[in-house]
Amino acid sequence: MAEDLSIQIGTKKEQYESLIPQIKGLLEGEEDIVANMANMAAALWQQFRWFWVGFYIVRKDQLVLGPFQGPIACTRISKGRGVCGTAWEKAETLVVPDVEAFPGHIACSSLSRSEIVVPIIKDEYVVAILDIDSENLDTFDETDKHYLEQIVALLHF
Ligand code: SME
Repeated sequence: MAEDLSIQIGTKKEQYESLIPQIKGLLEGEEDIVANMANMAAALWQQFRWFWVGFYIVRKDQLVLGPFQGPIACTRISKGRGVCGTAWEKAETLVVPDVEAFPGHIACSSLSRSEIVVPIIKDEYVVAILDIDSENLDTFDETDKHYLEQIVALLHF
Protein backbone atom coordinates (compact mmCIF):
# COMPACT_ATOMS: atom_id res chain seq x y z
CA MET A 1 0.00 0.00 0.00
CA ALA A 2 1.54 3.31 -1.07
CA GLU A 3 1.71 6.16 1.40
CA ASP A 4 0.84 9.70 0.38
CA LEU A 5 3.52 11.60 -1.48
CA SER A 6 5.00 14.44 0.54
CA ILE A 7 4.97 17.45 -1.75
CA GLN A 8 8.03 19.68 -1.49
CA ILE A 9 8.09 23.46 -1.92
CA GLY A 10 11.42 25.02 -2.94
CA THR A 11 13.77 25.27 -5.86
CA LYS A 12 13.40 22.77 -8.67
CA LYS A 13 16.56 21.04 -7.45
CA GLU A 14 15.15 20.74 -3.92
CA GLN A 15 11.89 19.38 -5.29
CA TYR A 16 13.70 16.67 -7.28
CA GLU A 17 16.02 15.85 -4.36
CA SER A 18 13.00 15.23 -2.15
CA LEU A 19 11.07 13.36 -4.81
CA ILE A 20 13.74 10.83 -5.82
CA PRO A 21 13.87 8.89 -2.53
CA GLN A 22 10.09 8.87 -2.46
CA ILE A 23 9.90 7.42 -5.97
CA LYS A 24 12.50 4.81 -4.95
CA GLY A 25 10.22 3.89 -2.04
CA LEU A 26 7.18 3.69 -4.30
CA LEU A 27 8.92 1.30 -6.67
CA GLU A 28 10.50 -0.85 -3.99
CA GLY A 29 9.04 -4.34 -3.82
CA GLU A 30 7.05 -3.95 -7.04
CA GLU A 31 8.49 -5.43 -10.19
CA ASP A 32 5.62 -4.82 -12.62
CA ILE A 33 6.79 -2.24 -15.13
CA VAL A 34 3.32 -0.85 -15.90
CA ALA A 35 2.55 -0.34 -12.20
CA ASN A 36 5.90 1.38 -11.72
CA MET A 37 5.56 3.63 -14.77
CA ALA A 38 2.04 4.56 -13.61
CA ASN A 39 3.15 5.56 -10.11
CA MET A 40 6.22 7.37 -11.46
CA ALA A 41 4.05 9.46 -13.79
CA ALA A 42 1.64 10.20 -10.93
CA ALA A 43 4.42 11.15 -8.49
CA LEU A 44 5.99 13.54 -11.04
CA TRP A 45 2.60 15.06 -11.80
CA GLN A 46 1.70 15.46 -8.12
CA GLN A 47 4.95 17.28 -7.40
CA PHE A 48 5.19 19.51 -10.46
CA ARG A 49 1.62 19.72 -11.86
CA TRP A 50 2.87 19.74 -15.43
CA PHE A 51 0.27 19.64 -18.19
CA TRP A 52 1.07 16.08 -19.29
CA VAL A 53 3.47 13.47 -17.89
CA GLY A 54 3.68 9.98 -19.26
CA PHE A 55 5.35 7.19 -21.10
CA TYR A 56 5.41 5.86 -24.61
CA ILE A 57 6.62 2.28 -25.00
CA VAL A 58 8.55 0.97 -28.01
CA ARG A 59 6.46 -1.68 -29.80
CA LYS A 60 8.10 -2.83 -33.05
CA ASP A 61 8.52 0.30 -35.20
CA GLN A 62 6.29 2.63 -33.19
CA LEU A 63 5.91 4.25 -29.81
CA VAL A 64 2.64 3.29 -28.15
CA LEU A 65 1.00 5.29 -25.38
CA GLY A 66 1.71 3.98 -21.88
CA PRO A 67 0.78 5.10 -18.37
CA PHE A 68 0.30 8.87 -18.07
CA GLN A 69 -1.30 11.73 -16.16
CA GLY A 70 -3.07 14.43 -18.10
CA PRO A 71 -5.41 14.86 -21.03
CA ILE A 72 -5.98 12.11 -23.62
CA ALA A 73 -3.05 11.80 -26.03
CA CYS A 74 -1.98 10.40 -29.39
CA THR A 75 -1.68 6.62 -29.11
CA ARG A 76 1.03 5.89 -31.71
CA ILE A 77 4.13 7.79 -32.85
CA SER A 78 6.51 6.62 -35.58
CA LYS A 79 10.29 6.64 -35.22
CA GLY A 80 11.73 10.05 -36.10
CA ARG A 81 8.35 11.80 -35.83
CA GLY A 82 7.78 14.70 -33.45
CA VAL A 83 9.80 15.28 -30.31
CA CYS A 84 9.15 11.80 -28.95
CA GLY A 85 10.03 9.98 -32.17
CA THR A 86 13.18 12.08 -32.56
CA ALA A 87 14.35 11.42 -28.98
CA TRP A 88 13.83 7.71 -29.69
CA GLU A 89 15.76 7.84 -32.97
CA LYS A 90 18.66 9.81 -31.46
CA ALA A 91 18.53 7.94 -28.12
CA GLU A 92 19.08 11.20 -26.31
CA THR A 93 17.11 13.58 -24.12
CA LEU A 94 15.53 16.50 -25.98
CA VAL A 95 14.63 19.76 -24.27
CA VAL A 96 12.29 21.83 -26.44
CA PRO A 97 11.68 25.38 -25.17
CA ASP A 98 9.06 26.15 -27.84
CA VAL A 99 7.31 23.21 -29.46
CA GLU A 100 6.07 25.33 -32.36
CA ALA A 101 9.68 25.90 -33.37
CA PHE A 102 10.39 22.15 -33.43
CA PRO A 103 10.10 20.75 -36.97
CA GLY A 104 7.44 18.03 -37.13
CA HIS A 105 6.19 18.52 -33.58
CA ILE A 106 3.06 16.42 -32.99
CA ALA A 107 0.43 18.56 -31.29
CA CYS A 108 -1.61 16.11 -29.23
CA SER A 109 -2.88 19.23 -27.51
CA SER A 110 -2.68 22.81 -28.72
CA LEU A 111 -2.12 23.85 -25.09
CA SER A 112 1.32 22.27 -24.94
CA ARG A 113 4.07 24.92 -25.38
CA SER A 114 7.31 23.29 -24.22
CA GLU A 115 8.46 19.74 -23.74
CA ILE A 116 11.17 17.38 -22.51
CA VAL A 117 11.54 13.81 -23.72
CA VAL A 118 13.85 11.36 -21.94
CA PRO A 119 14.60 8.02 -23.58
CA ILE A 120 14.87 4.92 -21.42
CA ILE A 121 17.65 2.67 -22.66
CA LYS A 122 18.14 -1.03 -21.97
CA ASP A 123 20.95 -3.08 -23.51
CA GLU A 124 21.75 -0.17 -25.86
CA TYR A 125 18.17 0.05 -27.18
CA VAL A 126 15.50 2.59 -26.38
CA VAL A 127 12.64 0.63 -24.79
CA ALA A 128 10.39 3.56 -23.83
CA ILE A 129 10.42 7.32 -23.46
CA LEU A 130 9.23 9.68 -20.72
CA ASP A 131 7.43 12.67 -22.23
CA ILE A 132 6.56 15.78 -20.24
CA ASP A 133 4.62 18.71 -21.67
CA SER A 134 4.10 22.17 -20.21
CA GLU A 135 1.52 24.83 -20.96
CA ASN A 136 4.27 27.44 -20.59
CA LEU A 137 7.21 28.21 -22.85
CA ASP A 138 10.73 27.29 -21.78
CA THR A 139 9.76 25.17 -18.76
CA PHE A 140 12.53 22.56 -18.90
CA ASP A 141 16.31 22.88 -18.65
CA GLU A 142 19.48 20.96 -17.77
CA THR A 143 18.28 20.49 -14.18
CA ASP A 144 15.19 18.62 -15.39
CA LYS A 145 17.32 16.59 -17.81
CA HIS A 146 19.75 15.67 -15.03
CA TYR A 147 17.12 14.54 -12.54
CA LEU A 148 14.64 12.98 -14.94
CA GLU A 149 17.41 10.81 -16.42
CA GLN A 150 18.15 9.60 -12.87
CA ILE A 151 14.46 8.99 -12.21
CA VAL A 152 13.79 6.90 -15.33
CA ALA A 153 16.91 4.83 -14.52
CA LEU A 154 14.94 3.53 -11.52
CA LEU A 155 12.65 1.59 -13.89
CA HIS A 156 13.74 -1.96 -14.65
CA PHE A 157 12.45 -3.13 -18.00
N1 SME B 1 4.22 16.39 -28.56
C1 SME B 1 4.75 15.07 -28.64
C2 SME B 1 3.66 14.05 -28.80
C3 SME B 1 3.21 13.43 -27.56
S1 SME B 1 2.15 14.34 -26.69
O1 SME B 1 2.43 15.71 -26.56
C4 SME B 1 1.60 13.62 -25.30
C5 SME B 1 5.76 14.94 -29.79
O2 SME B 1 5.92 15.84 -30.62
O3 SME B 1 6.42 13.93 -29.84
